[in-house]
Amino acid sequence: MAIISSRQQSQPNGEQPKRQRNAKKSAVPPREKENNLLQPEAEVDEQGKQEESIRPHRFDDYIGQKDLKDVLEIAIKAAKSRGEVLDHLLLYGPPGLGKTTMAMILASEMGVNCKITSAPALERPRDIAGLLVNLKPGDVLFIDEIHRLSRMAEEILYPAMEDYRLDVTVGKGTSARTRSIPLSKFTLVGATTRVGALTSPLRDRFGLVQKLKFYEPDELSKIVIRSAQLLNTPINEEGAAEVARRARGTPRIANRLLKRVRDYAEVKSCGEINRQVAAEALELFQVDPCGLDWTDRKMLSVIIEQFNGGPVGLETLAAATGEDTQTIEEVYEPYLMQIGYLSRTPRGRTATQAAYKHMGFKAAANEQLSLL
Ligand code: ADE
Repeated sequence: MAIISSRQQSQPNGEQPKRQRNAKKSAVPPREKENNLLQPEAEVDEQGKQEESIRPHRFDDYIGQKDLKDVLEIAIKAAKSRGEVLDHLLLYGPPGLGKTTMAMILASEMGVNCKITSAPALERPRDIAGLLVNLKPGDVLFIDEIHRLSRMAEEILYPAMEDYRLDVTVGKGTSARTRSIPLSKFTLVGATTRVGALTSPLRDRFGLVQKLKFYEPDELSKIVIRSAQLLNTPINEEGAAEVARRARGTPRIANRLLKRVRDYAEVKSCGEINRQVAAEALELFQVDPCGLDWTDRKMLSVIIEQFNGGPVGLETLAAATGEDTQTIEEVYEPYLMQIGYLSRTPRGRTATQAAYKHMGFKAAANEQLSLL
């Protein structure tokens, strides 16, 4: 029987790559305390047809991420003019910002296929080997949550990424022999929310490493207007802005909120979605004007009330809020820091003056002192 394996690849210093990733599962557990309208991960039913119908397919339709688009457009033009495949690309950043969409756009701009998978689906060596041998020249292979690849899968990827070669071990024990199977030249697009959890040998094999940032409110407004048009939903600019400002800088959340507001408008026969309709609907769903939900508010109020504004350590904050540390780090903190409500210091997390104000507390004593 032929088993797929890979040559043991050691580091130049003879050490094995450091591995932190599988110590903890990285899948963010679903929010249970409240509706999950604001969670940035895709729901199962969001991967269906309707989601596809509003996903942009070309750079021209893709709103936001200007720096990233500029870099990729140059890389695509250069690769095309040389008749080469695109360099391997690592996309990182919070969930819901369009990493999969970007990979699909890359493939369509290059005129090739995009195969989409995620690291947890590549548990056995044969899973990844099967994908690799079936790639056509130039294809894009998109691996989501790439920080969760198993060691075996990762070691199969090294020669595949570097030399477009699959190393196969045939036989067992003393009669085992290694054979190399040539692969089509392809582009690996890896996506992760935790770039620091990738081993350095894997990270180093990506020619391009790019971050996706949270979207600006005006970019999200344009996305909401575009999606509403595709969904045949009348909306005015103020209605779109109201949805956008509660969407936590994240298109997936903006589109999800839009669908709930559309339901509300249809049931209440409001006609066009305007600012008031959007605000009423989102208040009903307990999404506050800054896009904070129950847990965000709980985190801020715990820091303010129980820890005098902080600093408070991550573990302590997790225990006090009943959330796990990873969910706090990956889901809540990035957005709270982005809007300037939370800061991370070497001694722990602190609530900012803006957070005090938003939560209806008087300004923090320590911040007042620091201003004196
Ligand atoms: N839908 C989701 N993300 C989008 C984006 N960046 N541009 C346009 N439509 C989108």
